[in-house]
Amino acid sequence: MTSTIDATPTVLRPHAEQLYAAELEALAAADDLPRPPGWRMSPQAVVTYLLGDGKDVSAKYIGPRRLMEVAVATLATDRALLLLGVPGTAKTWVSEHLAAAISGDSTLLVQGTAGTPEEAMRYGWNYARLLAEGPTAGAVVASPVMRAMRTGAIARIEELTRVPSDVQDTLLTILSEKTLPVPELGEEVQAVKGFNVIATANDRDRGVNELSSALRRRFNTVVLPVPGTVEEEVEIVAQRVASLGRSLELPEVPDAITEIRRVVTVFRELREGLTADGRTKLKSPSGTLSTAEAISVMTSGMALASHFGDGTVRAADVAAGIRGAVVRDTVSDAVVWREYLETVARERDGWKDFYRAAREAE
Ligand SMILES: Nc1ncnc2c1ncn2[C@@H]1O[C@H](COP(=O)(O)OP(=O)(O)OP(=O)(O)O)[C@@H](O)[C@H]1O
Ligand SMILES: [Mg+2]
Repeated sequence: MTSTIDATPTVLRPHAEQLYAAELEALAAADDLPRPPGWRMSPQAVVTYLLGDGKDVSAKYIGPRRLMEVAVATLATDRALLLLGVPGTAKTWVSEHLAAAISGDSTLLVQGTAGTPEEAMRYGWNYARLLAEGPTAGAVVASPVMRAMRTGAIARIEELTRVPSDVQDTLLTILSEKTLPVPELGEEVQAVKGFNVIATANDRDRGVNELSSALRRRFNTVVLPVPGTVEEEVEIVAQRVASLGRSLELPEVPDAITEIRRVVTVFRELREGLTADGRTKLKSPSGTLSTAEAISVMTSGMALASHFGDGTVRAADVAAGIRGAVVRDTVSDAVVWREYLETVARERDGWKDFYRAAREAE
């Protein structure tokens, strides 16, 4: 399972299809189920790739199988897939792995922002060539979406609801007619079988640039939930931290699980505004305290422990990181954090070390 990770080249962050090349190859080779046209493997194999098989295939997504089945099945139809959820619920991560498993290429990516131009969805021009040759096929600069249409691959659009509405609407013809006209050339690019689109959108951006209802009708929406239980979230963090640690080549850190459980507990309690035992109401801070942030607090903690400590992650290695994630607004969040420390952390069995470290990090 780890061999794929050890075999990575020296790039800082290999694409999913590079990092998990061995898994993808083995799954495709063993797969004798029907594949939708243009797909590298069957929908069942894609779901196994995402959720793992408990043996040779690692789990990338930890959560309800049904959601992944719906996502994968959608991509085999003529409808596009919209992954929706609060920050840090693995929307981007799932989208990358879906594209890697289905098309063998997760790089056909448009990053949506308020400034995303139409060219990023359709095509632009190489102006030097445009001036020299006029509008020729060679002067066209294809967008990732156009390239995906030509090759029959999955195009990914990140943060679709941040994109201005008129630019979003350039997707309409692409998604309903599966064609992209290039009027300057009197031509069109017709999508090859296997083409589809995965978009992600953040719940928190709701209302920024709502998807038009015409566009929404072309998407099936899958909402990725926050992990349901502490155990589930601890598992996600433990697994991602271990694999990030390997790829950053941090020395193995034993027994990180105690601190992982602590970080996850603090985040969940503050997020929910209630202690795990349901007894004490808490104020919630302004930040999201997502699973993704818990992962990064733990990764920093491990780096501290392995480079400046004795190799075991302790409360002191995570206390400052937790505080940093909680206290975004230096005034109101600081009050929330102080109250949490005094009313919850201080009294809790086995949390003395954490309470002390957190007070020192103030
Ligand atoms: N259920 C989960 N299973 C596996 N990994 C998860 C899960 N939830 C979160 N993660 C991890 O959290 C990290 C961040 O996820 P990702 O960036 O995909 O979130 P996002 O939903 O796109 O957030 P944002 O809205 O901020 O863009 C990834 O490394 C991912 O592995
Ligand atoms: Mg994202």
